[in-house]
Amino acid sequence: MTAEINFMHSDDSHSFARPRLAKVQHLILNLQVNFESKTITGTAIYNIVKTPEATEIILDTRDLVIEQVKLDKADQTTFYLSETEPFLGEALHIKLQPHTTSISIYYHTLPQAAALQWLEPNQTAGKKYPFLFTQSQAILARTWLPCQDSPGIRFTYEAQIQVPANFLALMSAENPQEKNSTGIYHFAMRQPIPAYLMALAVGDLVFKEISFNTGIYAEPIMLAPAYHEFTELPHMLEAAENLYGKYLWDRYDLLLLPPSFPFGGMENPRLTFVTPTIITGDQSLTSLVAHELAHSWSGNLVTNATWNDFWLNEGFTVYFERRIMEALYGKEYANMLKVLGYQDLLDALQEIGPEDPDTQLKLNLAGRDPDEGLTEIAYEKGNLFLLKIEEVIGRSRFDAFIRDYFRAFAFQSMNTESFLVFLKKILQNDAHAISQINPEAWIYAPGIPTGAPILISNKFKEVSLQIENWQSGTPAEALITQHWTTQEWLYFLNKIAKFISLPQLEELDGAFHFTQTSNAEIATIWFKMGISLGYSAINSNLEEFLMRVGRRKFVLTLYQALLNKDTERAISIYHKARPNYHAVTTSTLDDIIFT
Ligand code: BES
Ligand code: ZN
Repeated sequence: MTAEINFMHSDDSHSFARPRLAKVQHLILNLQVNFESKTITGTAIYNIVKTPEATEIILDTRDLVIEQVKLDKADQTTFYLSETEPFLGEALHIKLQPHTTSISIYYHTLPQAAALQWLEPNQTAGKKYPFLFTQSQAILARTWLPCQDSPGIRFTYEAQIQVPANFLALMSAENPQEKNSTGIYHFAMRQPIPAYLMALAVGDLVFKEISFNTGIYAEPIMLAPAYHEFTELPHMLEAAENLYGKYLWDRYDLLLLPPSFPFGGMENPRLTFVTPTIITGDQSLTSLVAHELAHSWSGNLVTNATWNDFWLNEGFTVYFERRIMEALYGKEYANMLKVLGYQDLLDALQEIGPEDPDTQLKLNLAGRDPDEGLTEIAYEKGNLFLLKIEEVIGRSRFDAFIRDYFRAFAFQSMNTESFLVFLKKILQNDAHAISQINPEAWIYAPGIPTGAPILISNKFKEVSLQIENWQSGTPAEALITQHWTTQEWLYFLNKIAKFISLPQLEELDGAFHFTQTSNAEIATIWFKMGISLGYSAINSNLEEFLMRVGRRKFVLTLYQALLNKDTERAISIYHKARPNYHAVTTSTLDDIIFT
């Protein structure tokens, strides 16, 4: 038994694996992608390590067909699948021999595999070829490959993926940069990663380099706009390294997905998956890319041990994202992002309930879908807690702390309790600082502790002034808004949403043409207000948006507004749009629309 196993956290209620007895170490994946049958077929071979007494190894699966399992070079072996459990799927038990070092699993996926979205040609930008992508986080990797699907278990991998001619395959790994005529592609991920970072995309994709170690993959007609939007990528990478240490994953590329991608971004190592809804033409929503890049440290290097510790991934990443944006665009820019984030936090607290245990940083998601922990609490309360530490100990000490944290725990998992121990150690038990920070209140109590940092944006003070002018009679057209960027408009719209009437909405549309905006963040707030006030001029743009975009954050907001106003209409639009959405989005929407 290796020392590594002793240090494993395995108190993850969202995985059947028992890594203290037997765990995977290296994966050799060999898959064929079949667009006609919407299935992936192949083998997963794992090198494993185990204790001498281990008689079996347990992997996670969900909706997988396991055809056969072999040990080392031997014949078929004994395996069985446990009863299906909600969210978790089935445990794959494989009986081991005393000297077993590898297992070969022959399997195929089912068309309903929740991680996978099989897009028809008309759901892509080019409209000619189908497209496939995966979304594994939090516990969906097990729906496309048998794996120990716990963030505390890491493995390296290599893969051979066969796709039809004219398609390019990409993974969270060392990637090809162009198509070949065989349709067979090879991949390697030499750094150990948890299963939730396994990723695959297949489509009519091309690559363009931005710098020697960064670039962008997109469908051919999206390549130029994507390139134009993301030219600052090398500077973001440079700023990140200057802040918190060397980038340890070699290349950093982006993959621009079709608009049904259910998230804004996903930090698949070496290849962030990103929604096209941040392409605005003015680079105003690129903090999302800084966020996914920051996960190369917080999340991908130092990984939350369980989904109860999700704030360690997201809170650090939000803090780090805004430090990158500050380095590129200055303090005032970062302050706008912080204030917008704080507003989101207040909204989330109101929605969840300020006394609800789900507003603690440390969560208890046992028996639930870990997706339920995916709220602004992990992101924005997590960030606010880190801002509090920064405020108390000063930025330079805090930066040194974060650098040490990433260095000390690189390629390991971290839980909230160990984080607390490390924090107190770095503060050298400076009782005064610890009591001023009061970390236990942030971590184990609901709501926002007293003494939280106060966030101020001077640019937003200007926006508030214009709102006051408008309220006291200045026509919308005469407001001074000429230099506003997306962030000012978002602040403006969030604020006026609290009091606006239908005639005022019409006046604003006349002046600023929000109904026609191509900025998805602005469109979502605008449509939400329009729905609530029964402003029918938005209807065709709103329906077009819901038919095209599948990003859950946006469509959830809009369906909730529709349901409040006109249930029949919500259901009828959802009925038409649903086939375009990824399972992550439909599972959330099915719950609110069909109950
Ligand atoms: N890793 C998350 C997305 C995620 C979290 C997927 C949990 C599944 C389960 C990603 O880094 C993220 O946070 N994306 C945000 C954007 C960010 C700027 C807040 C999103 O998609 O909206
Ligand atoms: Zn994130």
